[in-house]
Amino acid sequence: MQILKINSKKPQKNIIQKAAKIIRQGGLVVFPTETVYGLGANALDPQAVKKIFQAKNRPTDNPLIVHIAVNSDLKKIAKNIPAQAKLLASRFWPGPLTLILKKKKIMPYETTAGADTVAVRFPDHNVARALIKAAKTPIAAPSANLAGRPSATCLAHILLDLKDKVDLILDSGPSKIGLESTVLDLTSRQPIIWRPGGLSKEKIEKVLGQSILVASQHQPIAEVKSPGLKYRHYAPKAKLFVIDGDLDAITAKIKKLIGKYKKQGKKVGVMTALESKNDYPQADIVLSVGSRHQLKTIAKNLFKILRQFDQQPIDIILAENFTETGLGLAIMNRLKCAAVDAKTD
Ligand code: TXA
Ligand code: MG
Repeated sequence: MQILKINSKKPQKNIIQKAAKIIRQGGLVVFPTETVYGLGANALDPQAVKKIFQAKNRPTDNPLIVHIAVNSDLKKIAKNIPAQAKLLASRFWPGPLTLILKKKKIMPYETTAGADTVAVRFPDHNVARALIKAAKTPIAAPSANLAGRPSATCLAHILLDLKDKVDLILDSGPSKIGLESTVLDLTSRQPIIWRPGGLSKEKIEKVLGQSILVASQHQPIAEVKSPGLKYRHYAPKAKLFVIDGDLDAITAKIKKLIGKYKKQGKKVGVMTALESKNDYPQADIVLSVGSRHQLKTIAKNLFKILRQFDQQPIDIILAENFTETGLGLAIMNRLKCAAVDAKTD
């Protein structure tokens, strides 16, 4: 396994060529995108794609996102592309939006986990774009972490989960957005967001001129069309609880819970907004994810902070609630998925 530093403004051509060759030969390359790092393989090569599932220990019924590097590549892998998809692609690609569309035959069922649909995304990162172009093939890439763990947003986290399981890691520093793309299904009667992410629901609604459904995490499994939803995700090692209510109520509830768990002999961590960082002196550790007024900062820090709790000898994490508007919808989605009441695999 090799690690190479790569310049995100001007990716070095020799490094891109080396990585592209590995992809063409059926190997695995971890590469940066603007959302999180991806674990990439040739999306059209079933054997290569199988290696992704093995490296991540990913359930084989959970399909992969296929990354392209020019909008016009979309029609090579998807069919019956609705006008809405074209409109959204022209407005938001490259960017943190993944579209679910009907797949063309060329896309193997190994990549789509047996589905007749394919998830397509055009990432907004020079390295990702250069790599896909040089490989001359779409690249399937889930987040570069073990299944169930918080997505990797920097080299240290990639190494913790995937060291020696991949051929090459391209390191260009911390991810800009820090949360994954928004997954939008355009194959059902009404557009539905399977996974809120880096592009807000409000922005999509504005362009489409209609309101959009968001899949509930707690939908019965039989109704869930996006298989990723039924697995527990982003989980830190300690048990995480999200505490909701208005701000004063949250602080009071968390203080009470700290007392309760400490009486049981448990070590308690609190994940807070910057504003309430000093409100929990009784906790064993308090980590702030950023100001309530800067959702972008919270998004960027969230997975890093979840993983920082893993370095602490704690049993419980009590997490403050955030607003569910804009990027907040994705932030809260990840927190709820990381919490212990989420469905487990
Ligand atoms: O930002 C991102 O989307 C990152 C970067 C690397 O591009 N990728 C990523 O991939 O987060 P992954 O595999 O961790 O998440 C893909 C999600 C899963 O929830 C999966 O179930 C859903 O997309 N998905 C993929 N193909 C699908 C399909 N055909 N139908 C429904 N859901 C699909
Ligand atoms: Mg993932």
